[in-house]
Amino acid sequence: MKFPIYLDSQATTPLDPRVLEEMLPYFTEHFGNASSIDHLYGSEASEAVENARKKIARCINAKPEDIIFTSGATESNNIAILGIAEKHANKGDHIITCVTEHKSVLDVCKHLERIGKRVTYVPVDKFGIVDLKKLEEAICDKTILISVMTANNEIGTIAPINEIGEIAKKYGVLFHTDAAQAAGHIPLDVEKMKVDLMSISAHKMYGPKGVGALYVRHSNLNAKPFPIIHGGGHEQGIRSGTLNVPGIVGFGKAFDIAVKEMNEEYKRFDRWRKYMWEVFKEKCSPVELNGHPEKRLSHNLNVSFEGVENKALIRAVSSKLAISSGSACTTLNVEPSHVILALGFSPERAHTAIRTGFTRFNTEEEIIFATEFMFQTVNKLRKIKLPFLK
Ligand SMILES: Cc1ncc(COP(=O)(O)O)c(C=O)c1O
Repeated sequence: MKFPIYLDSQATTPLDPRVLEEMLPYFTEHFGNASSIDHLYGSEASEAVENARKKIARCINAKPEDIIFTSGATESNNIAILGIAEKHANKGDHIITCVTEHKSVLDVCKHLERIGKRVTYVPVDKFGIVDLKKLEEAICDKTILISVMTANNEIGTIAPINEIGEIAKKYGVLFHTDAAQAAGHIPLDVEKMKVDLMSISAHKMYGPKGVGALYVRHSNLNAKPFPIIHGGGHEQGIRSGTLNVPGIVGFGKAFDIAVKEMNEEYKRFDRWRKYMWEVFKEKCSPVELNGHPEKRLSHNLNVSFEGVENKALIRAVSSKLAISSGSACTTLNVEPSHVILALGFSPERAHTAIRTGFTRFNTEEEIIFATEFMFQTVNKLRKIKLPFLK
């Protein structure tokens, strides 16, 4: 076993060697600019980009021309929300999102509020499932966009996306989903989901960092966002900038592999997660599950060990395990997780929440070791009582 065992796959996944192999020639011999199609170097780069676009489109049942390459899901979320807000500024000023969204959605919404737009943050239940009744009630004639994530990055809860798509369609409101954590892990079909815009990121599915996509349903003329980066008019004018050819090639390969191996991986992770959870309940209760017991990503387990501060546990296991307290983008932040608080739980529960994320490179032996090491460490930490505490 190689230590520390990596168990933080919601933060990022390791690059699959098969993906790296596909990417390497595009750093070296095929280095052309995909826009310089007048010569061989450019045209082979362009061909590689278009092949990747086709693969990615196939993975979500979309048309290749509806895939816009970006630098990742943060950028895709920004383009979707800011770009639609600007495009439809004359039609409306109201956006609906959910309290448990990633900061790359919430902070964009906060920015829009600062410039005079209105945002409704729909609550979730104790499992993290968005309240569909409240979401529907929030829609008004000025609503231009609903943005709800497909799967949550901290607690793994999967949203009722098809139902949200139905509601959005019923009221003629555009629907965007941040599928960064879901893509490559659960089946996604833009037709069934009835989404107009969808954000995806390669590094959450064993692809490279710094590349992602925004799906844009061009058949709905209202869905094409205004750009937020202006320039050479790449990617149908939605995202200017020279394309990251090796990254895009890797993204295409990663998504292709992920979809092919999804069923088998899902079952393996489901077994591991259930094993870990059962052992924790038996060996180090009181422990609470954060997120939905079934409607969740199979490779995510988020639990709160009562009385054990998450940062202390992470530090105590760090020579052997790489686990986390939640969103990587907020680890410098000592505030309790906004997601756990949104479930209606106390700051104590948020400060004791630990996220474990399996990868396809973990082994059963590692999971058994990690489970044991975690519960033993939790029990040790619980015994350490500071003299001034009762
Ligand atoms: C749900 C969700 N959205 C967006 C992002 C940002 O993705 P990227 O790192 O590709 O910008 C992340 C990454 O943590 C995420 O988990």
